[in-house]
Amino acid sequence: MSDTTTVVRSRIVGTGRYLPEKVLTNVDISKFVDTSDEWITARTGIRERRVMPEGMVTSDMVVAAGRAACEAAGIEPGDLDCIVVATTTADVTMPSCAVMAQEKLGSRCPAFDVAAACAGFSHGLVVADSLVRTGVYKKLLFVGAEALSRFMNWEDRGTCILFGDGAGAVVMVPDEQTVPVTSKEARGVLSTHLGSDGTQWRELNILGGGTMHGATEQTVADKLHTLRMNGRVIFSQAVRHLSSSCLEVMKTAELSPDDVDLVLPHQANLRIIDAVAKRLKLPKDKFIVNIAKYGNTSAASIPIALDEAVRGGRVNEGSTIVMCGLGAGLVWGAAAVRW
Ligand code: ACO
Repeated sequence: MSDTTTVVRSRIVGTGRYLPEKVLTNVDISKFVDTSDEWITARTGIRERRVMPEGMVTSDMVVAAGRAACEAAGIEPGDLDCIVVATTTADVTMPSCAVMAQEKLGSRCPAFDVAAACAGFSHGLVVADSLVRTGVYKKLLFVGAEALSRFMNWEDRGTCILFGDGAGAVVMVPDEQTVPVTSKEARGVLSTHLGSDGTQWRELNILGGGTMHGATEQTVADKLHTLRMNGRVIFSQAVRHLSSSCLEVMKTAELSPDDVDLVLPHQANLRIIDAVAKRLKLPKDKFIVNIAKYGNTSAASIPIALDEAVRGGRVNEGSTIVMCGLGAGLVWGAAAVRW
Protein backbone atom coordinates (compact mmCIF):
# COMPACT_ATOMS: atom_id res chain seq x y z
CA MET A 1 0.00 0.00 0.00
CA SER A 2 1.33 3.48 -0.90
CA ASP A 3 1.91 6.21 1.69
CA THR A 4 -0.15 9.36 1.52
CA THR A 5 2.31 12.23 1.43
CA THR A 6 2.08 15.70 0.00
CA VAL A 7 3.75 15.71 -3.40
CA VAL A 8 3.87 18.07 -6.34
CA ARG A 9 2.84 16.67 -9.70
CA SER A 10 2.96 18.42 -13.03
CA ARG A 11 -0.38 18.94 -14.76
CA ILE A 12 -1.26 19.81 -18.33
CA VAL A 13 -3.58 22.82 -18.14
CA GLY A 14 -3.80 23.80 -21.80
CA THR A 15 -3.29 22.16 -25.19
CA GLY A 16 -2.96 23.49 -28.74
CA ARG A 17 -2.04 22.35 -32.23
CA TYR A 18 -1.10 23.68 -35.62
CA LEU A 19 -1.33 21.86 -38.94
CA PRO A 20 -0.32 23.54 -42.19
CA GLU A 21 -3.26 24.02 -44.57
CA LYS A 22 -1.63 22.37 -47.57
CA VAL A 23 -2.87 18.78 -47.92
CA LEU A 24 -0.88 16.14 -49.81
CA THR A 25 -3.06 13.10 -50.53
CA ASN A 26 -1.98 9.57 -51.38
CA VAL A 27 -3.26 10.18 -54.90
CA ASP A 28 -1.04 13.29 -55.16
CA ILE A 29 2.00 11.20 -54.16
CA SER A 30 1.09 8.40 -56.57
CA LYS A 31 1.58 10.93 -59.38
CA PHE A 32 5.34 11.16 -58.75
CA VAL A 33 6.35 7.81 -57.19
CA ASP A 34 5.29 4.25 -57.97
CA THR A 35 2.64 3.76 -55.28
CA SER A 36 -1.13 3.87 -54.89
CA ASP A 37 -3.77 5.14 -52.49
CA GLU A 38 -4.81 1.49 -51.94
CA TRP A 39 -1.28 0.36 -50.95
CA ILE A 40 -0.62 3.28 -48.61
CA THR A 41 -4.01 3.06 -46.93
CA ALA A 42 -3.86 -0.72 -46.48
CA ARG A 43 -0.23 -0.84 -45.27
CA THR A 44 -0.18 2.30 -43.09
CA GLY A 45 -3.69 3.73 -42.52
CA ILE A 46 -2.53 7.07 -43.93
CA ARG A 47 -4.76 8.86 -46.47
CA GLU A 48 -3.25 12.34 -46.48
CA ARG A 49 -0.71 14.50 -44.66
CA ARG A 50 0.02 18.23 -44.24
CA VAL A 51 3.04 19.99 -45.70
CA MET A 52 4.54 23.34 -44.64
CA PRO A 53 4.36 25.94 -47.42
CA GLU A 54 7.54 27.48 -48.76
CA GLY A 55 8.75 30.26 -46.49
CA MET A 56 7.33 28.73 -43.31
CA VAL A 57 9.76 27.30 -40.74
CA THR A 58 9.29 24.87 -37.86
CA SER A 59 9.33 27.62 -35.21
CA ASP A 60 6.29 29.20 -36.94
CA MET A 61 4.36 26.02 -36.18
CA VAL A 62 5.73 26.00 -32.59
CA VAL A 63 4.45 29.54 -32.13
CA ALA A 64 0.98 28.80 -33.53
CA ALA A 65 0.49 25.65 -31.44
CA GLY A 66 2.12 27.30 -28.41
CA ARG A 67 -0.16 30.34 -28.55
CA ALA A 68 -3.23 28.08 -28.72
CA ALA A 69 -2.03 26.09 -25.68
CA CYS A 70 -1.28 29.29 -23.72
CA GLU A 71 -4.72 30.66 -24.56
CA ALA A 72 -6.38 27.42 -23.40
CA ALA A 73 -4.34 27.62 -20.16
CA GLY A 74 -5.15 31.31 -19.63
CA ILE A 75 -1.44 32.19 -19.64
CA GLU A 76 0.21 34.98 -21.64
CA PRO A 77 3.25 33.75 -23.63
CA GLY A 78 5.20 36.59 -22.01
CA ASP A 79 4.55 35.02 -18.58
CA LEU A 80 6.03 31.61 -19.47
CA ASP A 81 9.11 30.72 -17.44
CA CYS A 82 10.39 27.91 -19.71
CA ILE A 83 9.94 26.75 -23.31
CA VAL A 84 10.90 23.22 -24.34
CA VAL A 85 10.60 22.13 -27.97
CA ALA A 86 10.86 18.51 -29.07
CA THR A 87 12.10 18.47 -32.66
CA THR A 88 14.73 17.02 -34.96
CA THR A 89 13.77 19.33 -37.82
CA ALA A 90 14.61 22.76 -36.41
CA ASP A 91 14.78 25.92 -38.54
CA VAL A 92 18.60 25.78 -38.56
CA THR A 93 21.33 23.53 -37.11
CA MET A 94 22.13 26.19 -34.52
CA PRO A 95 20.55 27.79 -32.52
CA SER A 96 17.61 25.79 -31.22
CA CYS A 97 14.08 25.91 -32.57
CA ALA A 98 12.95 26.91 -29.06
CA VAL A 99 14.84 30.21 -29.09
CA MET A 100 13.53 31.02 -32.58
CA ALA A 101 10.01 30.47 -31.22
CA GLN A 102 10.79 32.39 -28.04
CA GLU A 103 11.58 35.55 -30.00
CA LYS A 104 8.32 35.29 -31.95
CA LEU A 105 6.31 34.59 -28.79
CA GLY A 106 7.80 37.61 -27.04
CA SER A 107 8.93 35.54 -24.05
CA ARG A 108 12.22 36.03 -22.21
CA CYS A 109 12.50 32.70 -20.42
CA PRO A 110 14.92 29.76 -20.81
CA ALA A 111 14.23 27.94 -24.08
CA PHE A 112 15.83 24.79 -25.45
CA ASP A 113 15.25 21.76 -27.67
CA VAL A 114 15.02 18.06 -26.92
CA ALA A 115 15.92 15.76 -29.82
CA ALA A 116 14.48 12.25 -29.82
CA ALA A 117 12.90 12.02 -33.29
CA CYS A 118 9.46 10.40 -33.18
CA ALA A 119 9.85 9.79 -29.44
CA GLY A 120 10.49 13.51 -28.91
CA PHE A 121 7.23 14.08 -27.08
CA SER A 122 7.83 11.14 -24.73
CA HIS A 123 11.34 12.40 -23.93
CA GLY A 124 10.43 16.08 -23.68
CA LEU A 125 7.57 15.20 -21.37
CA VAL A 126 10.01 13.58 -18.93
CA VAL A 127 12.18 16.73 -19.04
CA ALA A 128 9.18 19.04 -18.66
CA ASP A 129 7.64 16.94 -15.89
CA SER A 130 10.93 16.84 -13.98
CA LEU A 131 11.39 20.62 -14.22
CA VAL A 132 7.83 21.42 -13.16
CA ARG A 133 7.43 18.75 -10.48
CA THR A 134 10.66 19.80 -8.75
CA GLY A 135 9.65 23.47 -8.75
CA VAL A 136 12.32 24.72 -11.17
CA TYR A 137 9.67 26.23 -13.50
CA LYS A 138 6.00 26.95 -12.89
CA LYS A 139 4.59 27.90 -16.31
CA LEU A 140 6.24 25.69 -18.88
CA LEU A 141 5.34 25.49 -22.56
CA PHE A 142 6.26 22.18 -24.15
CA VAL A 143 5.81 21.81 -27.91
CA GLY A 144 6.42 18.86 -30.23
CA ALA A 145 7.00 20.17 -33.75
CA GLU A 146 8.31 18.55 -36.87
CA ALA A 147 8.66 19.35 -40.56
CA LEU A 148 9.93 16.11 -42.03
CA SER A 149 8.59 17.08 -45.47
CA ARG A 150 11.79 19.14 -45.80
CA PHE A 151 13.92 16.02 -45.21
CA MET A 152 12.17 13.58 -47.52
CA ASN A 153 13.60 11.83 -50.52
CA TRP A 154 10.52 12.30 -52.70
CA GLU A 155 11.75 9.45 -54.95
CA ASP A 156 11.74 6.89 -52.10
CA ARG A 157 8.27 5.36 -51.88
CA GLY A 158 9.25 3.51 -48.71
CA THR A 159 9.49 6.75 -46.73
CA CYS A 160 7.93 9.72 -48.55
CA ILE A 161 4.40 8.35 -48.08
CA LEU A 162 4.69 8.24 -44.31
CA PHE A 163 5.47 11.66 -42.90
CA GLY A 164 3.63 14.95 -42.44
CA ASP A 165 4.28 18.32 -40.80
CA GLY A 166 2.66 19.80 -37.70
CA ALA A 167 3.00 20.91 -34.09
CA GLY A 168 1.22 20.16 -30.83
CA ALA A 169 1.68 21.97 -27.54
CA VAL A 170 0.93 21.65 -23.84
CA VAL A 171 1.27 24.09 -20.94
CA MET A 172 2.37 22.43 -17.71
CA VAL A 173 2.13 23.77 -14.16
CA PRO A 174 2.85 22.29 -10.70
CA ASP A 175 -0.01 21.01 -8.55
CA GLU A 176 0.39 20.05 -4.88
CA GLN A 177 -1.52 16.89 -3.95
CA THR A 178 -1.80 14.75 -0.82
CA VAL A 179 -2.86 11.50 -2.45
CA PRO A 180 -0.68 8.56 -3.55
CA VAL A 181 0.07 8.04 -7.23
CA THR A 182 -2.12 4.94 -7.11
CA SER A 183 -5.20 6.89 -5.94
CA LYS A 184 -7.86 7.80 -8.49
CA GLU A 185 -7.63 11.29 -6.95
CA ALA A 186 -4.04 11.73 -8.19
CA ARG A 187 -3.88 14.15 -11.12
CA GLY A 188 -1.22 15.03 -13.69
CA VAL A 189 1.79 13.01 -14.79
CA LEU A 190 1.63 9.79 -12.75
CA SER A 191 4.56 7.85 -14.19
CA THR A 192 7.04 7.94 -17.07
CA HIS A 193 9.41 5.50 -18.74
CA LEU A 194 12.19 5.91 -21.33
CA GLY A 195 14.37 3.44 -23.21
CA SER A 196 17.09 3.52 -25.87
CA ASP A 197 18.93 1.01 -28.04
CA GLY A 198 21.84 2.80 -29.71
CA THR A 199 22.78 -0.33 -31.68
CA GLN A 200 19.77 0.38 -33.93
CA TRP A 201 20.70 3.90 -35.10
CA ARG A 202 21.61 2.65 -38.58
CA GLU A 203 18.02 1.54 -39.24
CA LEU A 204 16.55 5.07 -39.30
CA ASN A 205 18.49 8.28 -39.74
CA ILE A 206 19.31 11.49 -41.59
CA LEU A 207 23.07 11.29 -42.09
CA GLY A 208 24.05 14.50 -43.87
CA GLY A 209 24.97 17.85 -42.37
CA GLY A 210 26.51 16.56 -39.12
CA THR A 211 30.12 15.87 -38.17
CA MET A 212 30.03 12.45 -39.83
CA HIS A 213 28.99 13.76 -43.23
CA GLY A 214 29.45 17.53 -43.31
CA ALA A 215 27.41 19.14 -46.09
CA THR A 216 29.15 18.97 -49.46
CA GLU A 217 27.94 18.82 -53.05
CA GLN A 218 28.49 15.06 -52.84
CA THR A 219 26.37 14.58 -49.71
CA VAL A 220 23.57 16.50 -51.39
CA ALA A 221 23.95 14.47 -54.61
CA ASP A 222 23.83 11.29 -52.49
CA LYS A 223 20.71 12.64 -50.73
CA LEU A 224 22.31 12.18 -47.32
CA HIS A 225 20.21 15.09 -46.05
CA THR A 226 17.07 12.98 -46.44
CA LEU A 227 15.55 10.39 -44.14
CA ARG A 228 16.45 6.72 -44.63
CA MET A 229 14.68 3.88 -42.91
CA ASN A 230 14.58 0.10 -42.74
CA GLY A 231 10.79 -0.01 -42.32
CA ARG A 232 10.47 -3.70 -41.49
CA VAL A 233 13.00 -3.56 -38.64
CA ILE A 234 11.48 -0.39 -37.19
CA PHE A 235 8.00 -1.90 -37.41
CA SER A 236 8.76 -4.93 -35.26
CA GLN A 237 10.85 -2.94 -32.77
CA ALA A 238 8.04 -0.38 -32.49
CA VAL A 239 5.44 -2.97 -31.56
CA ARG A 240 7.74 -4.51 -28.96
CA HIS A 241 9.00 -1.34 -27.25
CA LEU A 242 5.77 0.68 -27.38
CA SER A 243 3.92 -2.17 -25.69
CA SER A 244 6.56 -2.78 -23.02
CA SER A 245 6.91 0.93 -22.26
CA CYS A 246 3.13 1.28 -21.78
CA LEU A 247 3.15 -1.73 -19.46
CA GLU A 248 6.00 -0.15 -17.44
CA VAL A 249 4.12 3.11 -16.79
CA MET A 250 0.92 1.21 -16.00
CA LYS A 251 2.81 -0.96 -13.52
CA THR A 252 4.43 2.05 -11.78
CA ALA A 253 1.10 3.86 -11.47
CA GLU A 254 -0.64 0.57 -10.57
CA LEU A 255 -3.07 0.85 -13.45
CA SER A 256 -4.89 -2.21 -14.76
CA PRO A 257 -6.02 -2.25 -18.40
CA ASP A 258 -9.53 -1.41 -17.13
CA ASP A 259 -8.19 1.72 -15.39
CA VAL A 260 -6.89 3.11 -18.69
CA ASP A 261 -9.48 5.26 -20.46
CA LEU A 262 -7.41 6.31 -23.46
CA VAL A 263 -4.17 5.38 -25.16
CA LEU A 264 -2.41 8.03 -27.21
CA PRO A 265 0.17 6.22 -29.31
CA HIS A 266 2.66 7.84 -31.68
CA GLN A 267 0.95 7.79 -35.08
CA ALA A 268 3.42 5.93 -37.31
CA ASN A 269 1.41 3.09 -38.80
CA LEU A 270 -2.13 1.87 -38.07
CA ARG A 271 -0.90 -1.73 -38.09
CA ILE A 272 1.62 -0.89 -35.35
CA ILE A 273 -1.19 0.64 -33.26
CA ASP A 274 -3.39 -2.45 -33.83
CA ALA A 275 -0.55 -4.77 -32.75
CA VAL A 276 0.13 -2.68 -29.60
CA ALA A 277 -3.58 -2.74 -28.69
CA LYS A 278 -3.52 -6.55 -28.95
CA ARG A 279 -0.40 -6.86 -26.79
CA LEU A 280 -1.83 -4.53 -24.14
CA LYS A 281 -5.16 -6.40 -24.25
CA LEU A 282 -6.94 -3.08 -24.65
CA PRO A 283 -9.90 -2.50 -26.99
CA LYS A 284 -9.12 -0.47 -30.12
CA ASP A 285 -11.79 2.11 -29.23
CA LYS A 286 -9.58 3.27 -26.32
CA PHE A 287 -6.89 4.28 -28.83
CA ILE A 288 -6.86 7.78 -30.26
CA VAL A 289 -6.01 7.47 -33.94
CA ASN A 290 -5.76 10.33 -36.43
CA ILE A 291 -3.04 8.95 -38.70
CA ALA A 292 -5.35 8.97 -41.75
CA LYS A 293 -5.40 12.80 -41.75
CA TYR A 294 -1.85 13.71 -40.82
CA GLY A 295 0.48 10.72 -41.35
CA ASN A 296 3.49 10.48 -39.04
CA THR A 297 4.20 13.94 -37.65
CA SER A 298 7.02 12.56 -35.48
CA ALA A 299 7.45 14.52 -32.20
CA ALA A 300 4.18 16.34 -32.91
CA SER A 301 1.88 13.33 -33.31
CA ILE A 302 1.03 12.75 -29.63
CA PRO A 303 0.32 16.41 -28.68
CA ILE A 304 -1.68 16.98 -31.89
CA ALA A 305 -3.84 13.94 -31.10
CA LEU A 306 -4.08 15.03 -27.45
CA ASP A 307 -5.33 18.48 -28.43
CA GLU A 308 -7.90 16.98 -30.79
CA ALA A 309 -9.06 14.63 -28.03
CA VAL A 310 -9.27 17.40 -25.44
CA ARG A 311 -11.12 19.83 -27.71
CA GLY A 312 -13.28 17.02 -29.08
CA GLY A 313 -14.48 16.09 -25.57
CA ARG A 314 -12.79 12.66 -25.42
CA VAL A 315 -10.61 13.72 -22.49
CA ASN A 316 -12.49 14.69 -19.33
CA GLU A 317 -11.68 15.47 -15.70
CA GLY A 318 -10.26 12.23 -14.26
CA SER A 319 -9.52 10.54 -17.63
CA THR A 320 -6.52 8.24 -17.34
CA ILE A 321 -4.36 8.40 -20.46
CA VAL A 322 -1.32 6.38 -21.50
CA MET A 323 0.91 8.02 -24.14
CA CYS A 324 3.77 6.28 -25.95
CA GLY A 325 6.26 7.02 -28.71
CA LEU A 326 9.19 5.46 -30.55
CA GLY A 327 11.68 6.92 -32.97
CA ALA A 328 15.11 6.99 -34.55
CA GLY A 329 17.82 5.87 -32.16
CA LEU A 330 16.06 3.69 -31.38
CA VAL A 331 14.48 5.59 -28.53
CA TRP A 332 11.09 5.09 -26.96
CA GLY A 333 9.05 6.15 -23.99
CA ALA A 334 5.65 6.32 -22.34
CA ALA A 335 3.76 8.30 -19.72
CA ALA A 336 0.62 7.73 -17.67
CA VAL A 337 -1.31 10.95 -17.11
CA ARG A 338 -4.58 11.59 -15.29
CA TRP A 339 -6.51 14.66 -16.43
N1 ACO B 1 3.89 1.71 -52.49
C1 ACO B 1 3.89 0.49 -53.05
N2 ACO B 1 4.74 -0.49 -52.70
C2 ACO B 1 5.64 -0.21 -51.73
C3 ACO B 1 5.70 1.05 -51.10
C4 ACO B 1 4.78 2.02 -51.52
N3 ACO B 1 4.75 3.26 -50.97
N4 ACO B 1 6.67 1.01 -50.18
C5 ACO B 1 7.22 -0.21 -50.21
N5 ACO B 1 6.59 -0.95 -51.18
C6 ACO B 1 6.86 -2.33 -51.58
C7 ACO B 1 8.29 -2.73 -51.29
O1 ACO B 1 9.15 -2.36 -52.32
C8 ACO B 1 8.13 -4.23 -51.16
O2 ACO B 1 8.11 -4.79 -52.44
P1 ACO B 1 8.86 -6.20 -52.74
O3 ACO B 1 8.17 -7.19 -51.85
O4 ACO B 1 8.63 -6.38 -54.19
O5 ACO B 1 10.30 -5.96 -52.34
C9 ACO B 1 6.74 -4.42 -50.54
O6 ACO B 1 6.05 -3.18 -50.81
C10 ACO B 1 6.77 -4.67 -49.06
O7 ACO B 1 7.68 -3.73 -48.46
P2 ACO B 1 7.88 -3.64 -46.90
O8 ACO B 1 8.93 -2.62 -46.61
O9 ACO B 1 8.04 -5.00 -46.32
O10 ACO B 1 6.44 -3.06 -46.50
P3 ACO B 1 5.83 -2.98 -45.07
O11 ACO B 1 4.57 -3.70 -45.01
O12 ACO B 1 6.85 -3.23 -43.99
O13 ACO B 1 5.45 -1.42 -44.99
C11 ACO B 1 6.29 0.58 -43.96
C12 ACO B 1 6.48 -0.45 -45.09
C13 ACO B 1 4.94 1.22 -44.15
C14 ACO B 1 7.39 1.60 -44.06
C15 ACO B 1 6.35 -0.16 -42.59
O14 ACO B 1 7.47 -0.99 -42.54
C16 ACO B 1 6.39 0.79 -41.40
O15 ACO B 1 5.44 1.47 -41.10
N6 ACO B 1 7.49 0.75 -40.65
C17 ACO B 1 7.60 1.50 -39.39
C18 ACO B 1 7.82 2.96 -39.58
C19 ACO B 1 7.85 3.64 -38.20
O16 ACO B 1 7.24 3.19 -37.25
N7 ACO B 1 8.56 4.69 -38.03
C20 ACO B 1 8.54 5.27 -36.66
C21 ACO B 1 9.65 6.03 -36.38
S1 ACO B 1 9.83 7.33 -37.53
C22 ACO B 1 11.00 8.45 -36.84
O17 ACO B 1 11.55 8.25 -35.80
C23 ACO B 1 11.32 9.69 -37.61
